[in-house]
Amino acid sequence: MSIKKNGDELGKKKAAKSAISQIEDGMKVGLGTGSTVAEFVKLLSKEIKSRNLDIRAVCTSYQTKNLAIDNEIPIISYNETKSLDIGVDGADLVDENLNLLKGGGAAHLREKIMAKMTKKYSIIVDETKLCEKINEPIPIEVIPSAKNLVEKNLEELGGKPILREAEKKDGPVITDNGNFVLDCSFENLEKDKRDLEQLAKKIKETTGIVEHGLFIDLADEVHIGNKEKCYIKK
Ligand code: 5RP
Repeated sequence: MSIKKNGDELGKKKAAKSAISQIEDGMKVGLGTGSTVAEFVKLLSKEIKSRNLDIRAVCTSYQTKNLAIDNEIPIISYNETKSLDIGVDGADLVDENLNLLKGGGAAHLREKIMAKMTKKYSIIVDETKLCEKINEPIPIEVIPSAKNLVEKNLEELGGKPILREAEKKDGPVITDNGNFVLDCSFENLEKDKRDLEQLAKKIKETTGIVEHGLFIDLADEVHIGNKEKCYIKK
């Protein structure tokens, strides 16, 4: 079962609008993936045109890349730069400590690379994404030939991994990197930050796992939109 929620469309727009004010001429901008980022991409395109800005964008998925191309945003690849000025990304869940759960769109590997390359990682979400503690299944990107090994190791850690199926039910979801996604629930996932950290570390140790969707201590700020307004948590 995927963790993806539809959320609140107006809240998404308000969060995207709030984040756009950070964009300055000459910036290299990381663009996340998802419907909230899609709102940001459209606004960014308008901003570039109206203010005649020189912006270069790194895209975290083919979905975002296609949208950026359609909106005439200049794109560079990851390896054309060593750092980014700002990365703007969505999230599936944001906890009280601004830890994130990501990967509902299966783009969390490239999103995490982007998050680690950027000077400022700015998250945009609608208010439905806020939670006290992260206790939804964790998306885990896995090398296809390691699926059974990873499933076994995750079960030994107390997890219940489920292979993510394509919406048309014609096979597993394949990420932009050619891998599978396992959505793995863990009973008794504690709110305590160290436990999340420990779990993240243990998951990462398993051979065949490329990346998981826990983003701990990576977000610098979160723009949270609802029907009336947007507020920022840092
Ligand atoms: C993709 C992600 C997205 O940021 C997350 O799924 C949020 O998407 P949306 O803005 O559509 O709710 O992590 O891997």
